Amino acid sequence: MSRTSLLLAATMIAATAFATGCRGQKSEDSPIVLIRNMYHQPRYNPQSASDFFEDGRTMRTPVEGTVARDRFEENEEISTGRLNDDSGYVLTVPEDVVRRAGGMDALLVRGQERFGIYCTPCHDKTGLGNGTVVQRGYQKPPSLHDPRIRTMPDGQLYATIKNGVRNMPAYGSQVPSADRWAVVSYVRALELSQLSMNVQPEPQK
Ligand code: HEC
Repeated sequence: MSRTSLLLAATMIAATAFATGCRGQKSEDSPIVLIRNMYHQPRYNPQSASDFFEDGRTMRTPVEGTVARDRFEENEEISTGRLNDDSGYVLTVPEDVVRRAGGMDALLVRGQERFGIYCTPCHDKTGLGNGTVVQRGYQKPPSLHDPRIRTMPDGQLYATIKNGVRNMPAYGSQVPSADRWAVVSYVRALELSQLSMNVQPEPQK
């Protein structure tokens, strides 16, 4: 064997060892993958820029009216809080909602939690309307114990959460349908808890 072919053979062995020897061994370096299969593919990161779309944004705005599959509510009354003939609001939390939640107890527990997250910043835990956001200058909402709100149909409360009202923002996109009804149920319990039972004391003897 000539010196040149010896050198060539040695180089080839070294190259093979270099290329194949990296798999299965511990290393801090990124692996050398000869056949890349689909390890690396072009993709966009959320919020990143795009040369492809005219507006330069990777993320597309959903078509108007798009409803996420797990947000779709078939029952119109449950979804809108309005009666099917649109003659007014649904009067009480629909039974289907209670059943799906696994009973009124479960619905109330969920409602209390969601109320704490989404409503107390303004309405505060008691519902009187002195939340931390209000203490910092936001318009003070009416007390949830106000007779006008206490006697309004459950569906109207539901619609208030979904669509907002005057200066109260809509929470429909953050609080899905079932949770809105849960909050409504909890608000009713909260109102009951503050109602004077008007019990007459036993006459003293
Ligand atoms: C950012 C503060 C804020 C948050 C959060 C908020 N509200 Fe309100 N809410 C208001 C304000 C302000 C009003 C009074 C709106 C007006 O009359 O302009 C109001 C009014 C209401 C009313 C009375 C509606 C009417 O017809 O007069 C109800 C009921 C109500 N909110 C329920 C809720 C519930 C339930 C939540 C939680 C899902 C919630 N709000 C979250 C600020 C808030």
